[in-house]
Amino acid sequence: MYLGVAYYPEHWDKRDWERDVRLMKEAGLNIVRLAEFAWSQIERTEGQFSFEWLDEVLDLLAKYGLKAIMCTPTAAPPPWLTHKHPSILPVDQNGVAMSPGSRRHYCPSSPIYREYAGNIVQQMANHVRDHDTVIGWQIDNEFGCSNTARCYCDNCLAAFREWLKRRYGNINALNEAWGTDFWSGIYNDWNEIPIPRKTTDPHHPGLLLDFYRFASDAVVEFQQLQVDIIKRVAPHHFVTHNMIASSQQIDYYDLTKGLDFASWDSYPKPELQPLRSEVRRVALWHDLFRGLKEKNFWLLEQRCSTSRAKGGYATPPEPGLARLWTYQAIAHGADGIVYFRWRAAKSGAEQCLGGVLSVDGRPTRAYDEIRQIGEELKILAPHLHATTVPTEAAITVSYPVQWAIALQPSLFGPGFSFHQHMSRYHRAFFDAAIPVGIVNPERELNKYKLVVAPALFLTNETILQNLYRYVEQGGILVVTARSGVKDWNNKAATSSLPGGLADLLKIRVDECDSLLDHGNEVETSIPGLSAQRYTCQTWCELLQPEGASVLARYTQGYFAGGAAITEAAYGKGRALYVGAEIAEERFYSGLIRWLAAEAGLRPLLSDPVDDVEAMRRIGSDTQLLFLLNFNLHEERTVNISTPHRSLLNDRLYASEVTLAPGGVEVLSPCQ
Ligand code: GAL
Ligand code: ZN
Repeated sequence: MYLGVAYYPEHWDKRDWERDVRLMKEAGLNIVRLAEFAWSQIERTEGQFSFEWLDEVLDLLAKYGLKAIMCTPTAAPPPWLTHKHPSILPVDQNGVAMSPGSRRHYCPSSPIYREYAGNIVQQMANHVRDHDTVIGWQIDNEFGCSNTARCYCDNCLAAFREWLKRRYGNINALNEAWGTDFWSGIYNDWNEIPIPRKTTDPHHPGLLLDFYRFASDAVVEFQQLQVDIIKRVAPHHFVTHNMIASSQQIDYYDLTKGLDFASWDSYPKPELQPLRSEVRRVALWHDLFRGLKEKNFWLLEQRCSTSRAKGGYATPPEPGLARLWTYQAIAHGADGIVYFRWRAAKSGAEQCLGGVLSVDGRPTRAYDEIRQIGEELKILAPHLHATTVPTEAAITVSYPVQWAIALQPSLFGPGFSFHQHMSRYHRAFFDAAIPVGIVNPERELNKYKLVVAPALFLTNETILQNLYRYVEQGGILVVTARSGVKDWNNKAATSSLPGGLADLLKIRVDECDSLLDHGNEVETSIPGLSAQRYTCQTWCELLQPEGASVLARYTQGYFAGGAAITEAAYGKGRALYVGAEIAEERFYSGLIRWLAAEAGLRPLLSDPVDDVEAMRRIGSDTQLLFLLNFNLHEERTVNISTPHRSLLNDRLYASEVTLAPGGVEVLSPCQ
């Protein structure tokens, strides 16, 4: 287990360094992330490399027994480079080049930038490969942050055309795949294809989706060129990248393919009222980032101090929150946590952010909180070793599907958001204390017992085969509205909806309504939900069962009496279709609790308690139950079914655990 900080020693006087590292050591930290935006300091002018400062810092870390993660500094090309080669600057949809002077101001397709980036990475890797302190690398910083993954420059235009040539081979295959006969759009030559800069009316959805794929691939390629260099020079180092939750412009399954493990940067929002919804939001992201490689992950930035809130203003976290977020991450499978940042910045754009030390170099209360975690992890680390988060339930998420949904909002109800829709199901698992993974529908699903495939707007053969096979072999599947609508090229299915899923779900979608100026409700016979009516919002579909049985019907308008939710038996399994977006949280909780029981899933708590999150990590002979009380002001008591012992304080709990306000317990079952 690694616990550390993002450290920018290059901003501070050398005389402070040893004190810094000593304080880190005293807090129980064992890793430091270095050189993230330090290109200017390493290559002050072209070809003049200086590593003395870095060597000195690495030696100090070695002296105190800390390890280092190096960052490739490519998120911030230095002024001499953008001045010499302005063609590396990214261009927006209006065709305007971004100004240098901030960060992320580069085009990932630029051949010139790729060469310079490769060169600095090569120099750094050569330099540190034999330094025992260095154990791995973070590539770049937050690809796609501030919506920078999609560039509309001429480099990208040329690269996009090449990408399309590779994908389609000949121009008529492209015409056919996109359906370019619409609005006089048939291409005769690759050079006629535009990059989707601003248009008068909407661009072609086939071109747009492929452009999004291309842009994602360009970032993946840019990362891979760096990974290849590091793996060649320093095969004993791990490589990872700090992904973000706020931008979904890159296919993270592709981005993590070439990495040893996934990492992300977690900044729970300072304006977190109610805290419970923020806790559920962060839990979802942990589950998603773990799901990318279906294995443990790291946090390369964990907020522990004052951070930007809405509008960019600074807000401090309440005492105890940094500790709770840390344990929440570990409980969801984090094997390393790096706090952002060691010392508050004295210059630059982020002076509003706090640090573990304040700008005057004094330890803040974040330091005390982290030192407590450091102490606790000394006890927990051996137990956490080689444990993972087992899940028997999954929710599927696909990037092309999300992009296609965002591209044509008019095919959904006003305000429909894939993320929000998917989150409703995730929250239901969270509230029921059932660990869930968020996974790629293109990967094997058979190890799960319950799978929710929300709004699977596009499908391809792999996904269809996966879902059919999963149900056939006994799985329970929930598919939701707007599934099977289009093919993988973003062209409408020409068979009845839900397209390729119709034979599995045994229904036909007869009519759709985005509920613009009226509402609807459903009445259901689902056990536990049958006494009440539930409100439809943003979307409902009138279903015609073709072998499925009806679990809910509409009550209003001309949909009244028609099917809204269905269930079909298929092979040894069951396939449900929820044809409406329902507003009430208790609907999702009831549905998931019922299906989990049908699938034989055991929740971690028999009666989950509001504000308490339960998670479990398991190893070959270890079981760890995490209980986190996210109520910072009140105690919470939860029932546990068998006696457990606390690893933190050795207390024995027979059947009940009382958690202090903001309290954390890590328990192991008694033999
Ligand atoms: C992160 C970023 C850091 C810093 C931080 C401030 O997204 O990686 O460099 O900008 O936000 O909150
Ligand atoms: Zn570009």
